[in-house]
Amino acid sequence: MKPIISFYGFGNMGQALFNSMQHSRWVDHYHWQFYDPNPELQKKFGQHPHIKLQNENELFSNSFLIFICIKPQNVDQLYQAIQQYKPQNCHLISMMAGIKTESIQQQLDPSCRISRIMPNTPARIQEGATAICLDAFTNAHEKESIEKLLKTAGTIVHVAEPQLNTITALSGSGPAFTYQIIKDFLEFAKNEEIDRDVALPIICQTLIGAAKMVMQYQNIDHLIESVSSPSGTTVRGLESYHANKIGVYLNEMLTAASDRAKELAKESEQ
Ligand SMILES: NC(=O)c1ccc[n+]([C@@H]2O[C@H](COP(=O)([O-])OP(=O)(O)OC[C@H]3O[C@@H](n4cnc5c(N)ncnc54)[C@H](OP(=O)(O)O)[C@@H]3O)[C@@H](O)[C@H]2O)c1
Repeated sequence: MKPIISFYGFGNMGQALFNSMQHSRWVDHYHWQFYDPNPELQKKFGQHPHIKLQNENELFSNSFLIFICIKPQNVDQLYQAIQQYKPQNCHLISMMAGIKTESIQQQLDPSCRISRIMPNTPARIQEGATAICLDAFTNAHEKESIEKLLKTAGTIVHVAEPQLNTITALSGSGPAFTYQIIKDFLEFAKNEEIDRDVALPIICQTLIGAAKMVMQYQNIDHLIESVSSPSGTTVRGLESYHANKIGVYLNEMLTAASDRAKELAKESEQ
């Protein structure tokens, strides 16, 4: 009998993760199921060849791993479901921003484990970045399964739970911040009468290339120096960047996102 991997909530993130997992070599190693009350999603995935629409009772009774992919605002519905269906011996993996494992653990039978992850939407195209905070009682088999499944969606890193609010700003919200920066670059190109068809691939490949250079060579100051010839264009642009305190404003944006994750954690405890 194959172990069952479940998704409780099957919106953007649930689908993004499943999409990577179903295109991996692990797809046939497990049975896959989801529960989501959204009628449109039920219709869309109800006849899917690889994942079965399941009721809550079955989902909480027979799963090996359950990815909790609902919004933090709906966490009370998870607690109600746990109280009603009393899952045992399963491992919940929550991606709800700001909801501490301690809050969920209090609701669970001691035989269950609760880990947290912070993925991001590029998981849909196997280019995600997922931070993982594993339950201290995770056994080797569960750890291996969680890691190999999440690796299908991109890069994984292990972090301690207190770091997750900050990671939420960097990875969970990070794609939206990067999209906004791409929009700003595009706006500049448009004002300079460069067609979007020309500007977009140049901007996107520049971001991809720069990120890969950093991953490979690590020393960012050296990389900046290497493209900053004295009195050149890059130096002039960077002078404006620092004079206009753009780094300070970016920091404020990230702090605002991280503070919101902390707020969500507090709200969930009330
Ligand atoms: N989106 C991101 O970029 C991102 C990144 C990192 C982490 N996250 C985390 O991922 C989680 C899901 O985000 P998302 O963007 O995927 O949200 P989403 O697209 O709204 O998906 C959530 C799904 O859960 C369903 N749902 C609501 N109540 C439920 C219940 N009691 N049982 C089962 N399913 C239920 C919703 O149905 P209805 O639409 O009918 O309510 C919806 O289909 C959130 O906790 C978020 O913090 C998101």
